Amino acid sequence: MLKGKKIVLGITGSIAAYKACTLIRLLIKQGAEVQVVITPAGKEFVTPITLSALTHKPVVSEFFNQRDGSWHSHVDLGLWADAMLIAPCTASTLGKMAHGIADNMLITTYLSMKAPVLVAPAMDLDMYAHVSTQENLRLLQQRGVTVVEPGSGFLASTLEGKGRMQEPERIVEELEEFFARREGRLRGQRILITAGPTYEKLDPVRFIGNYSSGKMGIALAKECLNQGADVELVLGPCSEPLPHSSLLHVTRVESASDMYQAATRLFADCTAGIMCAAVADFTPDTCAEEKIKREGDQLVLRLTPTQDIAAAVGRMKTSAQKLCGFALETHNALVHAKEKLQRKNLDMIVMNNLQDAGAGFQVDTNKVTIITSEQQESLPLQSKKDVAREIINRFLS
Ligand code: CTP
Repeated sequence: MLKGKKIVLGITGSIAAYKACTLIRLLIKQGAEVQVVITPAGKEFVTPITLSALTHKPVVSEFFNQRDGSWHSHVDLGLWADAMLIAPCTASTLGKMAHGIADNMLITTYLSMKAPVLVAPAMDLDMYAHVSTQENLRLLQQRGVTVVEPGSGFLASTLEGKGRMQEPERIVEELEEFFARREGRLRGQRILITAGPTYEKLDPVRFIGNYSSGKMGIALAKECLNQGADVELVLGPCSEPLPHSSLLHVTRVESASDMYQAATRLFADCTAGIMCAAVADFTPDTCAEEKIKREGDQLVLRLTPTQDIAAAVGRMKTSAQKLCGFALETHNALVHAKEKLQRKNLDMIVMNNLQDAGAGFQVDTNKVTIITSEQQESLPLQSKKDVAREIINRFLS
């Protein structure tokens, strides 16, 4: 996502400067080019030699090159960059930025910057909470600077540690989201995704469920986020980690009925829907109030059909909206999938065949056939991440 992006990374004098090394490695791994500008105080914490080795570029810190006296042009850097990220950013640098005190190369670069600017504050809690710091942050935000919120303490219930620079992984995610929002192919779209299994309660301790891990639906959500869309994720019970993004809105549900309520409520405001959840087709007639006891020779459960969420959303669909479903089949796969495409009023259906090795539940790979009314295309076995990209690029082209 950051492929080819030119990032000016400003480093200031905070103990968190050591994290700038990890940050650089992550940015470069994502395909970005990084030019470091460091303040004199920053050099007390991390050496330019380390930074230039990581970025493969000389570090800029003085107004003049010490060797030959040539002028370092902050104006050129301002034109070169796609974004300027100051991480860690001290209270002092925030103050100088807010008030235009250009006494070092980093601030002059900031003042000449044509590209958007992000800051990741790093300081102790008292300094962060001080009215001067908060006022400076507010001034900078008013001028369009994006603030990467500092991390909170080890214990979420205490404020301890608030002010500590956000972890490099999160900073990179925020930067990716920043570019996705501005440039992503799907910016302005809102996509409903159902994902994971559903649990149908039998009694206070038991349920009928299925083996879905939620991995495919979450991979689809990540791809939509990477391309700048807002995502409404309606997620059944699963422990798969979710991406951090302000574009992501998660509604956690348990049963098919909860998922139906959430999905049909949210779809009206969406431009497209992807029904990836493995929804129970039947639910117990009643949920026992007490734990069902081991009594008698057999236990007979009476089940009633659940509502078909995809079909309901298909009926709501307007000509401006698109809908993609999944079909999990074990036999006669193509015939069944094509029938579901029609019956549920879908524009596309992604067929999984559980007979294919590496496809389906719990694994990180998938092998799918993408079917529309005009054509069908079988994709090779690949990671769910790659499958997600292929689906999104075809579905939302
Ligand atoms: N689906 C749904 N709500 C249900 C059942 C299924 O939204 N109650 C959606 C799934 O998310 C998927 C598509 O319908 O996108 C097909 O699901 P699948 O289980 O393959 O098909 P069913 O319609 O349940 O038919 P069957 O179980 O008979 O194959």
